Amino acid sequence: MIKPQQPIQLFKVFMSNDAINRTQKVLGSGYIGQGPVVEEFEKQLCDFFGNAHVVTTNSATSSEHLVFHMLKRPQKKKHINEAPSISNHDWPGINEHDHILTTALTCTATNWPILANNISLKWVDADPNTCNMDLDDLERKITEKTKAIVVVHWGGYPLDLDRLAKIQESAFNKYGFKPIIIEDSAHAFGSMYKGKPIGSHGNICTFSFQAIKHLTAGDGGCITFPNEDLVHRAKLLRWFGIDRNDNRKDFRCEADVAEYGFKMHMNDINAAIGLGNLPEVKSIVLKNHKANGQYYNEALKNVNGVTLLEDNPDRESAYWLYTLKVERHADFVKKMYDANIMVSRVHERNDIHTCVHEYKSQLPNLDKLVQEMICIPVGWWVTPEERQYIAETIKSGW
Ligand SMILES: Cc1ncc(COP(=O)(O)O)c(C=O)c1O
Repeated sequence: MIKPQQPIQLFKVFMSNDAINRTQKVLGSGYIGQGPVVEEFEKQLCDFFGNAHVVTTNSATSSEHLVFHMLKRPQKKKHINEAPSISNHDWPGINEHDHILTTALTCTATNWPILANNISLKWVDADPNTCNMDLDDLERKITEKTKAIVVVHWGGYPLDLDRLAKIQESAFNKYGFKPIIIEDSAHAFGSMYKGKPIGSHGNICTFSFQAIKHLTAGDGGCITFPNEDLVHRAKLLRWFGIDRNDNRKDFRCEADVAEYGFKMHMNDINAAIGLGNLPEVKSIVLKNHKANGQYYNEALKNVNGVTLLEDNPDRESAYWLYTLKVERHADFVKKMYDANIMVSRVHERNDIHTCVHEYKSQLPNLDKLVQEMICIPVGWWVTPEERQYIAETIKSGW
């Protein structure tokens, strides 16, 4: 293939005809708020994840904000009849002396909601083989003040969840409680760990349905929970603390609000887009992302100046990103741009920003990784000819 006239893009919006038709129907229906379409979308998401505890929201950022808020203020017994259960063990809640351990290599949307909830954070270094959290560093940094751990499945490649569970268990043995694990799964819709989709391994997971994700709802997100108590509370808190399933005649004049909430719910317009896209995301989008990722794993191994990331057979990346490490980074980027191939590091490390200055710490792996890592086009729109062209361009050197 010769150099394409238009750049091969790193991201593209996938919109099915069914999404357009369903949206049109909702727009003309006279009801565009949160209603039956959101409910149907949630049902389909439950099937997709193999997890009956799914709550949609208006973004992954809202999902994360809601989750940290819930962690900070565990449900008081007096609000509902059942015991507070953020998880199936005693949960002490997060107070001002505690912290969350998190990764700096991610979208700011992972970490700013921690700040917005006035919770302290501590950075954990990156694993240079995956761009995920370095679990050795995590293990070293856990103390009795670590009440939660936030991980990201970078590019869709699942972090080692079994090892993470062991680290959580050993914290329990030392301190008497398990730090809650939140998997920011914005990149990992359709990723698999040990035969099961991300979203179904017993932690709290947040997903994004923003414009350029595998599955777009225009904007939107969801949370997968490990139990129904959390679903109940999250559904209340995403809409002011009011129960929308309350059958009173006039739910605008609400009954008592026991716990205040937010306005973070999804509406039927976004749900119609998500619902309409979901079948083709399963049959086309995810299949193509994965096929292109696997193609590069073969085509780019043993290329001078290139180091590929880990690809363990016990998991399957959804390849929202294809990240590789390259020598002479600036020259590589120039070569790719000259060849009309879009590349990027996609997310700046979060720890360099002024608003997190007070949490600065040494992250030697990340210092090196950001000098080397780069993402190349891998999505559903990259044709077999284009991926071959991209691989040949890299192989020809820079
Ligand atoms: C890792 C990660 N977390 C969270 C988000 C936020 O998603 P949203 O735009 O749906 O709030 C993104 C968006 O790109 C992301 O990449």
